[in-house]
Amino acid sequence: MSIAYLNGEYLPLAEARISPLDRGFLFGDGIYEVIPYYNGQSVGLMPHIERMINGLAAIEIKSTLTADDWKTLLDDLIARNSEVGENLGVYVHVSRGADVKRLHAYPENVEPTIFAFAFKIKDPEPADRTQAHQYSMITTEDLRWQRCHIKSTALLGNVIHYQEGHAAGADEAMLFNAKGELTEGSSTNVFIVKDGVVVTPIQDNQILPGITRRIVLDSLKADGSIPVEERIVTMDEVRAADEVWITSSSKEIAPVTKLDGKPVGNGEVGEVWEKAFKIYTAAKFDA
Ligand code: PDD
Repeated sequence: MSIAYLNGEYLPLAEARISPLDRGFLFGDGIYEVIPYYNGQSVGLMPHIERMINGLAAIEIKSTLTADDWKTLLDDLIARNSEVGENLGVYVHVSRGADVKRLHAYPENVEPTIFAFAFKIKDPEPADRTQAHQYSMITTEDLRWQRCHIKSTALLGNVIHYQEGHAAGADEAMLFNAKGELTEGSSTNVFIVKDGVVVTPIQDNQILPGITRRIVLDSLKADGSIPVEERIVTMDEVRAADEVWITSSSKEIAPVTKLDGKPVGNGEVGEVWEKAFKIYTAAKFDA
């Protein structure tokens, strides 16, 4: 049984309870993170914690926990869940807390609700293009809000887009803005490869500042053997790409070989993916 953390206590996940007046429940008023641990070693723990602290500040949720307090809490939760699996993800969620009434305005003197639990994640994929799991995507206009850089628990916009992909038999939905420019996936960042160059959209309010995205960019730049660019990417470029990848804490770098039912490039997992995934894998625990 997974052990959860709720407001200072560790308890079996199935016993965790919050008030229905919690603003996370009523308004999706909160911030969350998902952090992977492989055999007890985290990937991007401090960048995840920093992103959460920034998100909490952006929506004025006051938490007294420092980055080191978060690290201790999450490492402790992982240690308590060692029986659940070798490879674990931690979901951590801070909502504004429960008021005594439902009012849109931020209440004063309400304690944030802090909730975290660990769950089993897949073993990392082998960095071998002949064995990699191949992903399929549909494309659809990004109809979420204009603050996608905040990792809000209000995920209905993302959920609707993910479901569009799921209902069409695809693994994920790729989103584009009104100008026909790529933003991101419903739960992933997107990269393309053209003529050996790796390209991903710039970091702005249209996309989540993905930690995996950051580790991919930093490790490829440090390695230097594959050129990388952060810039506007049009959907025409996406459709003409040799390779498409999606990244997230749970998928790492995942190759997409089918887009709207058509093959990406030659329809096989690309050579640049294999090379980049090896570079990422060698760097990920240092992030
Ligand atoms: N999803 N973009 C969106 C909209 C996301 O929800 C996520 C993560 C990412 C990738 O971010 P990162 O590399 O930091 O995981 C990009 C998480 C895993 C989720 O909601 O389950």
